[in-house]
Amino acid sequence: MFTPVTDRVVVVTGASRGIGLGIARVFAASGARLVITGRDAGRLEEAADELRALDAQVEAVVADVARPEDCQHMADRAVQRFGGIDVLCANAGIYPQAAVATMTPDELVETMTTNLGGTVWSLQACLPALVASGHGRVVVVSSITGTLTGLPRFAHYGASKAAQVGFVRTAAVELAPHAVTVNAVLPGNIATEGLAGLGPEYLSQMTAAIPMGRLGAVEDIGHAVLFLATDEARFITGQTLVVDGGQVLPEAGAGAQG
Ligand SMILES: NC(=O)c1ccc[n+]([C@@H]2O[C@H](COP(=O)([O-])OP(=O)(O)OC[C@H]3O[C@@H](n4cnc5c(N)ncnc54)[C@H](OP(=O)(O)O)[C@@H]3O)[C@@H](O)[C@H]2O)c1
Repeated sequence: MFTPVTDRVVVVTGASRGIGLGIARVFAASGARLVITGRDAGRLEEAADELRALDAQVEAVVADVARPEDCQHMADRAVQRFGGIDVLCANAGIYPQAAVATMTPDELVETMTTNLGGTVWSLQACLPALVASGHGRVVVVSSITGTLTGLPRFAHYGASKAAQVGFVRTAAVELAPHAVTVNAVLPGNIATEGLAGLGPEYLSQMTAAIPMGRLGAVEDIGHAVLFLATDEARFITGQTLVVDGGQVLPEAGAGAQG
């Protein structure tokens, strides 16, 4: 039996849609208080209303995680509204496509600044409150791409996701004396608005490659994050948890479906 996360203050970046909103829904249903962020104010407010309809207390903060000052604003608002922060889920991320041969400096910088920079700045801003809680939890949403697999046209993205895991491992060591755990979940292909943008052909190819025969649901990631945020996960730090329906497992040529 896990101790409930009722009233824990949970910051989820990039929670106006997709995996972030799925994570926020799972915590809302578990009685947590939520701080959600995104750049588009209208979409963020719609997400906040959806979560409030689940009876959750929600603070919606427009913030670009690539900007350290926005992350500080997000953490300050969390502390002002709820008195502290127990959990940070660094989820916000982008996955634009670019071929290795033609990738531009701007494409590389934007992806690294959002995915790696956003993880670093959001953790840095929330850190004093996480330490003060006495049981701080950080869960970074990385990916199987770059950490375990290679995906053509996503080399810069894969590099940013592998960099997140490198950051997680060192941050875990640095923050362990403060009882703050730092872990990463590595989603496979999860049905989100962002993934749908990659087109129907990509989606059907990816579905066929998953032994469980379906794309992941956003709540599949939410439940993994919830586990890592529980009191009972307090001795797990610096680890990666793959949530992919078995996508990375099949041996070459064996086929994904048994
Ligand atoms: N979907 C998958 O199959 C999959 C697989 C592996 C890993 N992931 C990872 O999961 C995370 C979420 O992916 P998703 O598929 O849910 O994406 P999505 O549907 O495109 O949603 C992304 C969310 O992040 C926000 N966001 C993007 N850039 C931001 C920034 N600079 N500052 C603040 N918020 C920002 C977006 O809101 P605004 O645009 O309004 O800012 C939106 O709320 C990403 O880190 C991604 O790498 C996804």
